[in-house]
Amino acid sequence: MLDATELHQTDDLLNPVGPAGKSLKMAARFCGAGWTRYITCGSTCGILALLAACPGHGGRILVSRASHQSVLHAAMLLDLQIGWIEASLWPELYSDDSVPQPLLPQVGVADFRRAVASFGSYDAVFLTSPDYYGSCAQIKEIADEAHAVGAVVLVDEAHGAHLALGSEFLPASAMRQNADACVQSAHKTLPALTPASLLHVSESAIANGRIDPGTVNAMLKIFHTSSPSFLIAASIEVSLDWLKYSGHGFIKQQMLNIEWLGQNLAGVVQVTGTAVTKPNCADRDPLRIMMTMPDAISAADINLKLQGQNIDVEMSDLRRLILIPAIDQTRQEYLLLAEALRSIIDGLPEHVLYSTAKNEGKSSIAETEASWRQIMCRKPNMILQASQLMPGLMKTEQIDVSQSVGRVSARAVVPYPPGIPLLWPGEHIDAEILALITALRQNGVGLTGIEHEMVTVLV
Ligand SMILES: Cc1ncc(COP(=O)(O)O)c(C=O)c1O
Repeated sequence: MLDATELHQTDDLLNPVGPAGKSLKMAARFCGAGWTRYITCGSTCGILALLAACPGHGGRILVSRASHQSVLHAAMLLDLQIGWIEASLWPELYSDDSVPQPLLPQVGVADFRRAVASFGSYDAVFLTSPDYYGSCAQIKEIADEAHAVGAVVLVDEAHGAHLALGSEFLPASAMRQNADACVQSAHKTLPALTPASLLHVSESAIANGRIDPGTVNAMLKIFHTSSPSFLIAASIEVSLDWLKYSGHGFIKQQMLNIEWLGQNLAGVVQVTGTAVTKPNCADRDPLRIMMTMPDAISAADINLKLQGQNIDVEMSDLRRLILIPAIDQTRQEYLLLAEALRSIIDGLPEHVLYSTAKNEGKSSIAETEASWRQIMCRKPNMILQASQLMPGLMKTEQIDVSQSVGRVSARAVVPYPPGIPLLWPGEHIDAEILALITALRQNGVGLTGIEHEMVTVLV
């Protein structure tokens, strides 16, 4: 009988006194945290509970546009005042021309300082690190400055549960860079069941009174299911045990495999995996494989073709495939991937390889990509406060997307993947954003929030 929930024998995940308490203490110790909870309904739930506890209702929070939508959902529920960080670290992070840049910007300490200068006092800074592309924010430097003014640093480490290992090959985890709390999706990068996740509060945040674990626990009781799956919770314990005892060897093996993949595919696609970044910048997760296609080739098309050969790619944007290797992925599987990619690209007709989409009257992949990046780096032009944006509170109407310039979006419009909103609810729609929406759709990127050519806007 595996499908147990909270029984006398299993303990209570949010009032742990028995085996769950022991397991949580071991997890906290291994992950370098002062207090840990298992979450059996995803980092989404952890982010909501964390922000509800700290900074809590009405708090002032700095956040980058390239954040998961749960942050805005928390802001709507909690009337958080958002100061947007214009992130731009990527030019420095990927300053070596031979390393292709990712789509999303990442937050460096200079971006953070600019945001503080324009927003004024703040209670919390919320960072996403590593992001979908494996780029990391400058957490430690930002934490030093935030702590000096009594603010907290919260990290969405959904993509970095494996960093808990503390390996010399991996960037330091948020807990080891002085963040006050973080949320990790064990199900993304560890062998844990979906949607197994963890929430950690650091020892120093507790000791200095910056975060009260009791309040976080109380908020988890509001946002978490009262029937957590112990199967999912147990898979977190097992995956951390695995990481502790076998992680080093497997991670090293994956790094060798990724390096091999890059060499094997040289001249076909550019593989950024183990390539390391520049001094003075946060690191990049070497286990996040980013494959950059030659100019005229659509990564979305290649992704579809790979799926046809039973190869699952985590996501594609216009130019890149992002792959998350299973921790025990074999060299034979890397070989299959390399062969499949090579044969797909070799098999593309000449006109695909050497023409650009522009010749067919569309925006080229390169132009669309540049505009997408530029929009991700800037602040959204928000017309309303987050708390005014709760679905049901606003009077809305549906209009043709082509007529939407000058209106205010009532829903998020999200390219999927990577799932980072292009338009936030409450954001003014300008001509540049509409042009990007059009170009993305022409280039095969699916967008949620647009149905039958209609978008929902405020009346
Ligand atoms: C950056 C980031 N944060 C948070 C989440 C939410 O994580 P979960 O699926 O565990 O709820 C995701 C999901 O893809 C994500 O990419």
